[in-house]
Amino acid sequence: MPGDDILRDQIEYYSARAGEYDEWWFRKGRYDRGADFNARWHAEASVVESAIDEWLTHRRHGSAVELACGTGLFTRRLAPKVTHLTAIDASPEVLAINRARVAAKNVDYVEADLFGWRPRQRYDVVFFSFWLSHVPDELFASFWETVDAALAPDGAAYLIDSAFDPSSTAKDHALPRRDAGVVTRKLNDGREFRIVKVFWAPGALSSRLDALGWSAKLAQTASYFIYGEAQPRRDAGRA
Ligand SMILES: C[S@@+](CC[C@H](N)C(=O)[O-])C[C@H]1O[C@@H](n2cnc3c(N)ncnc32)[C@H](O)[C@@H]1O
Repeated sequence: MPGDDILRDQIEYYSARAGEYDEWWFRKGRYDRGADFNARWHAEASVVESAIDEWLTHRRHGSAVELACGTGLFTRRLAPKVTHLTAIDASPEVLAINRARVAAKNVDYVEADLFGWRPRQRYDVVFFSFWLSHVPDELFASFWETVDAALAPDGAAYLIDSAFDPSSTAKDHALPRRDAGVVTRKLNDGREFRIVKVFWAPGALSSRLDALGWSAKLAQTASYFIYGEAQPRRDAGRA
């Protein structure tokens, strides 16, 4: 199991990367692989952005919690569509960028380590993007117990994450092995950090969730992203 040192490194990495984080999403700097590649990336990014927008539209008036909210790339989409949003991240640097970007009155920010966080209330929506891949396998089940504890009876979780595609990462990152579990990531200044990175495919993730008592409807874009909803099965057959 990746030790506590890697989970600490993971927080330090994202804190140190806060100011350059968005380069990944917008394919700038070390993530810029040329016009054709970038166009494909942005087209697939639009697919997952539209999917969550549409899904949220049907839950417009609910309460939501966003786990590992980051710099607000998705917080900015969630906030206008829910009554109240709690946005959680372990990094104060990241939270500061999110707060400035989103500037919405219905968003509360919480600085917390999600591996110790326990919800104080239940939400209609639990959302996390590019977070599940940073949950080590050994903490997978307990993470989903936490998600369950955060969900209202008819609530649902929605996730977006990385499909396995070596060209999604920066040009100077070593090509990850699909099943490596831990990868080395660099910052623009060359500093290196080890983080957890588990690449889920929709089928494997659905099966794993099914065994834990969840029903998931997940899809994948052509290369880069997996996305979809998961709901606990509130029946006698739950694991
Ligand atoms: C890949 S980023 C995803 C950010 C955002 N959800 C997005 O889609 O852009 C992972 C985020 O997890 C946060 N993080 C890392 N370890 C954490 C932990 N133990 N508890 C809470 N947040 C953590 C990082 O600070 C970072 O903002």
